[in-house]
Amino acid sequence: MITLTDIAYVRSGVADLDAATRFATEIVGLELAAPTEVGVAHLRADHRHHCLALIEGPSGVIASGFSVADTDALAAAETELERAGFSVRRGDAEQARSRRVREFIAFDDPFGNRLELVSQQETITRPVAFTRPAGIAEFGHLCLDAPDVHEAYRFWSTRFNARVSDWIGDAACLLRIDPVHHKLAVFRGERPGLCHMNFQVDTIDDVFRNWHFLLDHDVEIEMGPGRHPQSTAVFLYFLGPEGFTYEYSFGVRRIEDDATWRPRTFDPDEPGSIDMWLGPTTRPITQPQARSAEPAEAGRASS
Ligand SMILES: [Fe+2]
Repeated sequence: MITLTDIAYVRSGVADLDAATRFATEIVGLELAAPTEVGVAHLRADHRHHCLALIEGPSGVIASGFSVADTDALAAAETELERAGFSVRRGDAEQARSRRVREFIAFDDPFGNRLELVSQQETITRPVAFTRPAGIAEFGHLCLDAPDVHEAYRFWSTRFNARVSDWIGDAACLLRIDPVHHKLAVFRGERPGLCHMNFQVDTIDDVFRNWHFLLDHDVEIEMGPGRHPQSTAVFLYFLGPEGFTYEYSFGVRRIEDDATWRPRTFDPDEPGSIDMWLGPTTRPITQPQARSAEPAEAGRASS
């Protein structure tokens, strides 16, 4: 059993780095870290050095990163995954530097999503210099696609410390690795990819102010504002460049008493199961997994 202590980052390939970076800063509101690598934009939302890295190259999500406690935990995870038959690659020093971690390993989940486990992700104490006042509090969660969410649950709950918080039938599995209702979700999708990346905002007012801001800037709203009955979060999904879906949300439930929480099952076809305010519901667009490198070569200079 591998204990994930947190979500760490998303790495995403973009054909037009300038346009994607402009959107992430001027529209989403993230801080652009001082450039240190050609063709890489590090975006910051909270204490992490960055939670989103945009990499110039073919469009598609490159990897989703999760933290483990330390380098010993990482070595144990590497051994455990290899014993279980996963092809695991350890990143080199340069690749680890690009991720602002001490060490990392990369492998594919059974559905083809590239995952990275990291130790010692860099923390920055200076307040985030947000590009615009979107009210972002932190990188909230990430959501991956898999063709069978029950199989995905088996993977995450047997290999890792992830627990199911709620089910949306066969359409989604919402998983927690700490008291937050979900830091990881798996949505049903034919192919691997990143369904969306979530940022928590400080107040419900931020969700609605952001909604008007996005409409004023002709950003495609995919769903919301609405409220998820599972997490109780007020949500807003919108589409960035190259098929990358962002989400703002406020008010995610915390499950403080693990022992007494019983996962619930919601029928996705039942009105109110996705949006308890009964707004129109649309499945967010998934950015497909980039297939440029085999697991054995994950994290080359270009990724
Ligand atoms: Fe979400």
